[in-house]
Amino acid sequence: MLKHDVLIVGGGLAGLRAAVGLCDRYNVGLISKVHPIRSHSIAAQGGINAALANNPDAKDDTPDKHTFDTVKGSDYLADQHAAEIMCYEAPKIVYEMEHWGCPFSRFPDGTIAQRPFGGAGYPRTCYSADITGHVLLNTLFERSVARGLHIYPEFVVAQLVVKDGECYGVVAIDQIKGEIVAISARATLFATGGYGRTYYYSTNALTNTGSGIGIAYKAGVPLKDMEFVQFHPTSIIGTNILMTEGARGEGGYLVNKNGERFMECYAPKAMELAPRDIVSRSITTEIEEGRGFESELGKYVHLDLRHLGREKILERLPGIRNICLDFLGIDPVLEPIPIMPAQHYSMGGIDTNEKSETVIKGFYAAGECACVSVHGANRLGGNSLLETIVFGKLGAIAIDNYLQAINSEPDAKAIEQATNDVEAKIRKLGNSNGEKSFRILDELRKTMSAYVGIFRIKQELETALNKIIELEGRAKNVSITSSNLFMNYELIGAIELEYMLDICHIITLGAFLREESRGAHSRRDFPQRNDTDWLKHTMATIREDGKPEISYKDVVITKYQPMERKY
Ligand code: FUM
Repeated sequence: MLKHDVLIVGGGLAGLRAAVGLCDRYNVGLISKVHPIRSHSIAAQGGINAALANNPDAKDDTPDKHTFDTVKGSDYLADQHAAEIMCYEAPKIVYEMEHWGCPFSRFPDGTIAQRPFGGAGYPRTCYSADITGHVLLNTLFERSVARGLHIYPEFVVAQLVVKDGECYGVVAIDQIKGEIVAISARATLFATGGYGRTYYYSTNALTNTGSGIGIAYKAGVPLKDMEFVQFHPTSIIGTNILMTEGARGEGGYLVNKNGERFMECYAPKAMELAPRDIVSRSITTEIEEGRGFESELGKYVHLDLRHLGREKILERLPGIRNICLDFLGIDPVLEPIPIMPAQHYSMGGIDTNEKSETVIKGFYAAGECACVSVHGANRLGGNSLLETIVFGKLGAIAIDNYLQAINSEPDAKAIEQATNDVEAKIRKLGNSNGEKSFRILDELRKTMSAYVGIFRIKQELETALNKIIELEGRAKNVSITSSNLFMNYELIGAIELEYMLDICHIITLGAFLREESRGAHSRRDFPQRNDTDWLKHTMATIREDGKPEISYKDVVITKYQPMERKY
């Protein structure tokens, strides 16, 4: 058994920032499915929002204006006190990252460069060309290693250890040694990322299965607002690799097959820089109404950067140019990029407050796996990197306070019981003679993309729900070829399937019940936002029979009364 004061699960930005805040005082362990600098945060391209007012067009930008844009972008479902905390923390954490050595792009006067992003009233997205996640992650990785963080790469969590409302660590699989390992901790923080890979078309890394969210749910932590799934407007056809919103921030156009900049019809002021929910719906409408292109890789519209010129593309967007060259054989300097919307981000997640606390003592969550809620029904681009670092930092402060206040030690019996449970589960998977998990997963992902996508309607949501219930039944008989624990992806896939099914069930049920359109949740049969009945968070908790119980919770409104969103 491994023993730490604090255990962090997930080596992306939220996890590493929490580690930096705790390593000086505590013995901190961090387990991660992959080496931390291969975490999905590395893939973030366009930038991180903070009202620094560096851009000549943003001299009167303020954290209040950032808060307002965030709340409006969220279609008024964000908890406003939490959004305000995040936006006021933003300048502090960006300068902190700068002082820790993060190489941001610069304006000629030496200040951190800022570009326009969707739904923002000012150009406030700080960036490092189009590899912002990469530079932030490496900065935090180096800092946490220098502070003595114990890192365990290639560890996959199988179960959270919870007894009588208190968390004592996790049981994990060490894939390199091929062992089940209990890790005891006085406080545990999940920073396990989103569930993008429950969808067929996603910009997310293959590791983003959402299992952390499912594990927390199974342990009795409520999930919040799971029906709000973000679709990024611009992923390349075929692989769905992200084409950053920064490409439109730098002036890129979206163009249909008639050569029209169609955003004029949907968001005449903001055009290509409307919030993502609006742009994704607009692209989908263009395609559905026959104004898209078609190839063997799918239906698409064009992201056209040619007018930006070679020099600007090479300076500001070198990464996406390389992706286009490598994966499409297209040079965006010379040709438009074929793009389609794809699942990108989870607005919902583990229910936390603004201190990253959950209902379970000693259990915290931060970053995409958590729902504070600062993004409500639709997240603004550039607010995700911000959220990871802000709530990683605030989570570390809350854990520090908690550890100073308690003097109990982890319950050894609970840890032993959880270890036995995991061993038994793996034995069962190895001994049964059932279906392979990847077949069920394939059907699940296709179902989610087909029926729980950008536009939703009752009949399709019912179809999806029935299919998920069928798959849940089949998943009870999943088997694996070998129960060897050494780098056994078949085993990991079988364990994670159960959590992915739970997540999809809750997304779909929440979407079915929510009879309105708000942010990324767009019902064809209920096209209007309905604040009278639906200005509330959806909460999902697990019942004794394993099925989800749905309830609702008030949204925190402080300064901004809900208004119609116009862009
Ligand atoms: O488009 C992007 O660069 C993605 C940014 C984000 O999701 O915040």
